[in-house]
Amino acid sequence: MTATGATTFKNYIAGEWVDAANGQTFESTSPANGDAIGVFPKSGPEDVDRAVAAAKAAYEEWRLVPAPRRGEILFRFGALLADQKDDIAELMTREMGKVLPEAAGDVQEAIDMSYYMAGEGRRLFGQTTPSELPDKFQMSVRMPVGVVGVITPWNFPIAIPSWKMLPALVCGNTVVFKPATDTPSLGERFVELLVEAGVPNGVVNIVHGGGREVGEHLVQHPDVPIITFTGSRETGVAVTKSAADGLKLVHLELGGKNAIIVMDDADVDLAVDGIVWSAFGTSGQRCTAASRVIVQDGVYDELASRLVGRVEQLRLGPGWEEETDVGPVINRGALEKIHSYTGIGRDEGAKLLTGGEVAGGNGLDNGFYYRPTVFGDVEPGMRIAQEEIFGPTTALIRVRDLDDAIRVSNGVKYGLSSSIFTQDVNKAFRAMRDLNTGITYINAGTTGAEVHLPFGGTKDTGNGHREAGQAALDVFTEWKSIYVDYSGKLQRAQIDTTENPAP
Ligand code: UN1
Repeated sequence: MTATGATTFKNYIAGEWVDAANGQTFESTSPANGDAIGVFPKSGPEDVDRAVAAAKAAYEEWRLVPAPRRGEILFRFGALLADQKDDIAELMTREMGKVLPEAAGDVQEAIDMSYYMAGEGRRLFGQTTPSELPDKFQMSVRMPVGVVGVITPWNFPIAIPSWKMLPALVCGNTVVFKPATDTPSLGERFVELLVEAGVPNGVVNIVHGGGREVGEHLVQHPDVPIITFTGSRETGVAVTKSAADGLKLVHLELGGKNAIIVMDDADVDLAVDGIVWSAFGTSGQRCTAASRVIVQDGVYDELASRLVGRVEQLRLGPGWEEETDVGPVINRGALEKIHSYTGIGRDEGAKLLTGGEVAGGNGLDNGFYYRPTVFGDVEPGMRIAQEEIFGPTTALIRVRDLDDAIRVSNGVKYGLSSSIFTQDVNKAFRAMRDLNTGITYINAGTTGAEVHLPFGGTKDTGNGHREAGQAALDVFTEWKSIYVDYSGKLQRAQIDTTENPAP
């Protein structure tokens, strides 16, 4: 315990809970009211070196553990998460701010991932194909890559680590995990449960600390051949550059500027429900959040007024209070950034329909609360319609028809999620084909991905990889093609195969 009453936590390296080599610490506090959550090691390069060495040594045994056995550990992990779901959700609400039901959903996503990836221990399918030569067998198998550097954000502090670590582990890799400095206690809890589930020493290591001292060193470490990172576009570019000299495998999940399209024929009540949930759930702090709403002319005024009516009823407060709809944002820097975009939107000539201010009073003064904000009359090229704000702000854009809507939806540098509300099946199918994003929803908002389909986006949202689903296995394995010649003689591919004339 420290002077503020917060518990002190440690790194977990080579199967032991240890302080940072430099002895430094940092504190995690609640964005809802400033309460202390815990004190964590403010690690440096020496700690990363030790963790990587442990993971490298453990890899030689872990890769040989049969994959179904590795999967069984993940089943146990899923069961532990399920047992402690309420407790972890409560911790998440305190440490990160999202309302309790959403925090429980975050934990549930990790439970789902545990069971899905545990089952993968009995699949990890490769291919067998016939050979072009007689008496020859061939197949492809998945090989683990080695030590995976896992760098995760604070907005899904249990789900996102599960998307990365669970497939990495079932495939036979070992892990050095650096959780976000805004949510260290959730990262710590995640590792504690993996240990309890039976992950052997050195297979998973956690090193707390900042991007500069821990993250960058992990990315550049010569014994870490693969990095998986979720965060901002800017940091993603920096990670790619730092990893380039080592020709590392880099998996990136970056920003979004996701749009919901509402056509004239849409069920407007349903569309409003979808917009409120996708734009203001998690206080808009999802990569998949709907920060634009593209509305066909005929329904624009009705939708705008119904939406504003609903948004003005949303209650701000700590996420643990049952009546709260929207919790705080993560920290002061985020609050300031979000508010600066309100100024930018005003200066650009957009019309502030509701919100646009920091919320205080009523017990909110010690937290970081921002009024749910809706801008109207937004032009597609405005900065508030182009840049990721990552807060409870959305922008209404008026369009003429479906072509216009799709053009506007696609007219940003990101390509994570998209959505259309329409009752016309032809429009829905055109949208499914033409929206250039990794995820598209029909008659639902832009959030709500399930773990057994690929998650990720096009353009600047990433670098072509996907996490979750079967796609995750492609991130955390290398393919090996194996040829077995049992003819007992030299058979030359492409040369000894021309017995039949070409068709
Ligand atoms: C994220 O915002 O980074 O689809 C992840 C969703 C959630 C995951 C979001 N299942 O919104």
